Amino acid sequence: MIIAIDGPAASGKGTVARRLAAHYRLPHLDTGLLYRAVGAARLASGGALDDVAAAARAARALDLESLDEEALKAGPVGEAASRVAAIPQVRRALLELQHGFARQPGGAVLDGRDIGTVIAPEAEVKIFVTASPEARAERRHRELIGRGEAIGYETVLEDIRRRDARDAGRSIAPLVRAADALVIDNTELDKEATFAAALAFVEARRRELGIVAAAAPDGGA
Ligand code: C5P
Repeated sequence: MIIAIDGPAASGKGTVARRLAAHYRLPHLDTGLLYRAVGAARLASGGALDDVAAAARAARALDLESLDEEALKAGPVGEAASRVAAIPQVRRALLELQHGFARQPGGAVLDGRDIGTVIAPEAEVKIFVTASPEARAERRHRELIGRGEAIGYETVLEDIRRRDARDAGRSIAPLVRAADALVIDNTELDKEATFAAALAFVEARRRELGIVAAAAPDGGA
């Protein structure tokens, strides 16, 4: 079973993906980390972020085993990631790796922006997690402050709005929900309620697909 979770920055899609992966004992890939690693490599090199050849080279050199999640989640890397993610050659270079991960025997959970539309349109389960920009900025702000970053709420909100516009407006693999995805808008929901909605949907899909038997009527086995 492939579970594809998409959504904008700080929507909580990563938490949903991680928890579903743990629940069903499936491997999980946060695909944002791949774009973040390319962005971080370009930042570290000091070169221009829109240098297509250099960004594609960085994407091809990526090693899944050596991603430093903690460093890649830092503030400026997200913006750099969204810039290199708009380069078609970068997306192409990361395609095989993501296809391979999605199609491993037994299935997988992947989260990102284009999992249900481009990477694994055949996914049995597609969920699009979203929330208002203000709610997402508030959560991301709290998270960054918790990590000791000195950053204001307004700056975080601006960053989220800019990234939303770039991710949704790019010509290749824009952030868009798959027609057959369940949309969970968690502006007014906490983490538990968001996860419960996702889990209920996966269970319904599993019954629909015959992966698990439908619940027997009262008293049945
Ligand atoms: O999800 P996260 O915020 O870590 O992603 C960082 C950036 O990587 C996003 O703003 C987006 O531009 C890009 N991305 C993407 N496609 C994905 C995952 C992330 O374009 N599947």
